Amino acid sequence: MKNYDIFEESKKYMPGGVNSPVRAFKDVDLNPPVIKKGEGAYVYDEDNNKYIDFVCSWGPMILGHCDGDVVNAIKNMSEKAISFGATTKIELELAKYICTTVDNIDMIRMVNSGTEATMSAVKLARGYTGKSKIIKFAGGYHGHFDGFLVEAGSGVMTEGIAGSAGVPEESVKNTIIAQYNDMESVKSIFEKYGDDIAAIIVEPVAGNMGVIPGDREFLGGLRNICDKYKSLLIFDEVMSGFRVAYKGAQSLYSIKPDITTFAKIMGGGLPCGAYGGRRDIMEKLSPMGPVYQAGTMSGNPIVMAAGLATLKKLHENPEYYAHLDKLGNKLQSGVEEIAKNKNMPVVFNRCGAMFTIFFTRNSEVKNYEDAKKCNIDLFNKYFKHMIKNGIYIAPSQFESVFLNVKHAEEDIDKFLEAFDSFEI
Ligand SMILES: Cc1ncc(COP(=O)(O)O)c(C=O)c1O
Repeated sequence: MKNYDIFEESKKYMPGGVNSPVRAFKDVDLNPPVIKKGEGAYVYDEDNNKYIDFVCSWGPMILGHCDGDVVNAIKNMSEKAISFGATTKIELELAKYICTTVDNIDMIRMVNSGTEATMSAVKLARGYTGKSKIIKFAGGYHGHFDGFLVEAGSGVMTEGIAGSAGVPEESVKNTIIAQYNDMESVKSIFEKYGDDIAAIIVEPVAGNMGVIPGDREFLGGLRNICDKYKSLLIFDEVMSGFRVAYKGAQSLYSIKPDITTFAKIMGGGLPCGAYGGRRDIMEKLSPMGPVYQAGTMSGNPIVMAAGLATLKKLHENPEYYAHLDKLGNKLQSGVEEIAKNKNMPVVFNRCGAMFTIFFTRNSEVKNYEDAKKCNIDLFNKYFKHMIKNGIYIAPSQFESVFLNVKHAEEDIDKFLEAFDSFEI
């Protein structure tokens, strides 16, 4: 079966033909390629087209596809352990590895997705502080938990809906929206509700309204205001963790969150998530404390093995991050130069190995309002051009583009060639 036939038949059995909305390529009005194989920096579809992959499974595949060490870890573990729902040595190994190689994590709890990590982190913050409200930022995406589906980024944004049907008022009444990179908007919320704010949840480098790095003063301001009001600061590093640096965005800003959430890279491409932080907070989790959170599959041995193999490889090879940054730099300066020569309206935002090319005449993109002003028609045209030229990127202006360590200079050259041949 070819791409088209598989996708058409998929629509009969899965809503929209997909298991996660953005995969349907609805906004760019195309049928998606049906991916059958990944190898290093490349993916192949069922029509045997080869693409340079800049989606990287939406972030996790930082080592490239089917990395030998990760594959071996999965193979070896699956021969003796698939699932027990019991304590295993491998879950200890990954937990200890993260606690000892990443800062600000005294203890960690494994879960199965980024959504589970963030919603559990918020529950823990509420349980720890005894307060109810949370602050999230317009355009921030923390997964599909009801309480986060207010002015959310990522797929919620491209669907053009304020939130989601099926979310009762009561589920979002304790979610208060502030503006990213705007400390005044946060202060005014604290002035009004200060005594009842359990936590601020923030992507320190936002990736779901396109990439927008947090300003240093803004993130530092969040830390200070949380201290002042005895609220917790949750850094959602589901996307930025192990990507913008091994120790995540918090290491770039030297800011200490109370709780950090992870997923994506930490599972080596298998379904995973985790949240961790200060010991006195983590000890509030059941069975030690009163905050209940559980999971049949949590800490699954195969996932733990894939995650450990990935993190070890990243930690033991710091030159990978230098390589990613070098490629990112080359891509950024190349795109900026081409755009300038063609008088193309482009703002290039990047943090290490994640970036977004915003099509806008504005001089900067610092928050959700700026991102929403981008020229979506132009993005869609650009997307179609890139994919036709074998460059596979996320089909939305409001997503991040990712590099992986298997990308070579020639792959960046091909990206730039394709970009150069794009006519507005
Ligand atoms: C910052 C952030 N938080 C949470 C999530 C949700 O993760 P998952 O899709 O694994 O549920 C995502 C997903 O892209 C994300 O980017």
